[in-house]
Amino acid sequence: MIFNEAEIIQLPKNFDRRGNLSVIEQNNHIPFKIERTYWIYDVPGGEVRGGHAYRNTQEFIVALSGSFEVLMDDGKSRKLFSLNRSYYGLYVPKGVWRQMQNFSTNSVALVLASTKFDLSDYIYDYKSFKENPQ
Ligand code: TYD
Repeated sequence: MIFNEAEIIQLPKNFDRRGNLSVIEQNNHIPFKIERTYWIYDVPGGEVRGGHAYRNTQEFIVALSGSFEVLMDDGKSRKLFSLNRSYYGLYVPKGVWRQMQNFSTNSVALVLASTKFDLSDYIYDYKSFKENPQ
């Protein structure tokens, strides 16, 4: 069951009256080397992002601001994760269908990825994903 690997990871939080600071080190707080970073923002109310799986890419998703949900599906069952603190992130293993939804106003999703961008790594067809679990 792939979901055994999908998990919320708590990050270090340096409390400070001047403002807090959190940190992510590759192969330390997250289980992969970071090849790419992107972020999703200005999401209109009700919009859904994602809606695909990756053949090889692993990701780590943090709600840097605001909140949203990540719906994960390993082809057998679905699981919903809520992200709403910048010192928690969600580890997404490869081969899992995932979509991001219910973005709050002004939310920012930071995504760390284990690969460089490669469209051939995407699985966009849910039916073929279901029929050929990764
Ligand atoms: P996509 O991954 O489909 O977004 P989402 O899964 O959030 O709905 O990417 C949207 C567009 O951005 C698509 O045209 C490809 C481009 N893109 C890059 O150029 N580099 C990247 O690292 C990512 C993630 C997307």
